[in-house]
Amino acid sequence: MLLFRLSSTMWLAAVCLFMASAVSTETVTTCGDASIAHRLECEDGVISVQSALYGRANKVICSEGRPPQQTSNTGCSQSGTRNFVKTRCNGKKMCEISTNDVNSPDPCTGTYKYLQTNFTCLPAIHLIVCENSYAHLYCDRGQVISVFGADYGRQDKAVCYASRPPSQVENVYCSNPTQIVAQSCDGKNSCSIRVSNSVFGDPCVGTYKYLQLSYVCEYPTFG
Ligand SMILES: *[C@@H]1O[C@H](CO)[C@@H](O)[C@H](O)[C@H]1NC(C)=O
Repeated sequence: MLLFRLSSTMWLAAVCLFMASAVSTETVTTCGDASIAHRLECEDGVISVQSALYGRANKVICSEGRPPQQTSNTGCSQSGTRNFVKTRCNGKKMCEISTNDVNSPDPCTGTYKYLQTNFTCLPAIHLIVCENSYAHLYCDRGQVISVFGADYGRQDKAVCYASRPPSQVENVYCSNPTQIVAQSCDGKNSCSIRVSNSVFGDPCVGTYKYLQLSYVCEYPTFG
């Protein structure tokens, strides 16, 4: 009996440890108000943004070589930053944001600002499907799809590029987060969706695009 108690305690501890490590938060901080890439990446799973700040909430971060008057205002934050980063990055394995995407209007002139994101990596099924193909989403029997994020566009030259002329793959600033996949697939056991302009619209004419999406399979909750 004692042995049983011990081992079940250890098992519980192991589960807790696993869960803690699965949801550990990562922080990325990018200094400056020029156009600097802010890169989030998950080796396992997909990005889930917890919080994001563009401005300054701390005197020490990004203060090196800066006069005190540029770092003393610690109550500066651009509204909408969290939503912007979430929309751009949730459900992807990697995403890059430029500080230019969030720096206007200037939330605090004269203050040296930074962009900081806290995110976790969630276990999810991640798909990349090239334009004019079909995305097929499947769950095990009894489970249903819950789409976590989807983006129809192009953020990478080296994805869906085979036999495409350079002009069609060089625009990597085409991001068009979409709810369409969630609307057609959420709650279903499986789902197919055509990856084309006729379904998603054309966010960047002349660029060959792809759909990036992630979803989890879960047991339906009733009530
Ligand atoms: C990120 O997490 C750290 C540690 O909890 C916290 O100090 C910081 O304020 C957070 N940043 C944002 C942008 O919420």
